[in-house]
Amino acid sequence: MIDQTENTPDQKAAPPPGGMDSATASELIADDVTVIYPTRGGEGVHALQNVSFTMKPGDFVVALGASGCGKTTFLNLLACFLEPTSGHVTLGDEPVTGPGADRGVVFQKHALLPWLNVVKNVTFGLKLQGIGATKRREIANKYLKLVGLEDFVNHSTYELSGGMQQRVGLARALTSDPKVLLMDEPLGALDALTRDSMQELLLDIWRETHKAVFFITHSVEEALFLATRLIVMSPRPGRITHEFELDFYQRFFDCRDARKVKSDPDFIAMREKILSIIHGDEVEGGQLNG
Ligand SMILES: Nc1ncnc2c1ncn2[C@@H]1O[C@H](COP(=O)(O)OP(=O)(O)OP(=O)(O)O)[C@@H](O)[C@H]1O
Ligand SMILES: [Mg+2]
Repeated sequence: MIDQTENTPDQKAAPPPGGMDSATASELIADDVTVIYPTRGGEGVHALQNVSFTMKPGDFVVALGASGCGKTTFLNLLACFLEPTSGHVTLGDEPVTGPGADRGVVFQKHALLPWLNVVKNVTFGLKLQGIGATKRREIANKYLKLVGLEDFVNHSTYELSGGMQQRVGLARALTSDPKVLLMDEPLGALDALTRDSMQELLLDIWRETHKAVFFITHSVEEALFLATRLIVMSPRPGRITHEFELDFYQRFFDCRDARKVKSDPDFIAMREKILSIIHGDEVEGGQLNG
């Protein structure tokens, strides 16, 4: 069953499939955040306006919305690459004041260092943290195995396909054992088949690692397939206008047949509903969805 709500961003999330102890885990909270980018004219771009949002352990939150509605701005706030003009971001009870190992980021383009091989890319952050070579290698092997790249440890990154490079980016983000994975259109540059298999891999890794995930996509189908919670954002000013709790990921775990899940009448009906919301926003905001 799909439980859907509109304009209720603080609705309770589905319990994590891995059964994580939510009492001991941390929530990532955006409390009434506004971001206004300065402009030469002085009026500023209201990229986000009074957005409040709580990410719970085990959530797989997917953000959808027309181009320019503030999705990346929101992710940058959660990562603390950016400070809000007003409002606060907290992780657990602590204010988030800078990028940290507790939040792993995966970008649309993998952002690997081309002069380092696969394992050195994956362990780069660990080295900066002062972790010794043996331990680094052990951690890297664990996550490279998890993303199915155990046979490519010593390869150069240019020897890998786009999907494999993206998997290296994912392994790198996982090495610091972050509480939250923040992913900005991580599958956007992949071909359709690779993208489909990466979606399945992501769900499996999410279930195994119990990470909270914040994931941005322009694909409604991808959003529906992956999300425990789907948020739809609207432009000018950027805000969360709709939120849905979904269970299509669970249906995939039950049957392991993604095509079956995505062709189910419930899935198609939900896809049409979300598309009509987004297209309504586009007409209103004068934006085209990318
Ligand atoms: N550094 C910046 N300076 C000024 N304006 C910015 C800056 N970054 C983003 N913006 C503006 O803020 C708004 C939100 O941008 P953002 O990149 O967050 O949107 P988005 O939803 O991620 O879009 P897309 O789907 O195209 O990636 C847009 O109007 C954009 O032009
Ligand atoms: Mg963006």
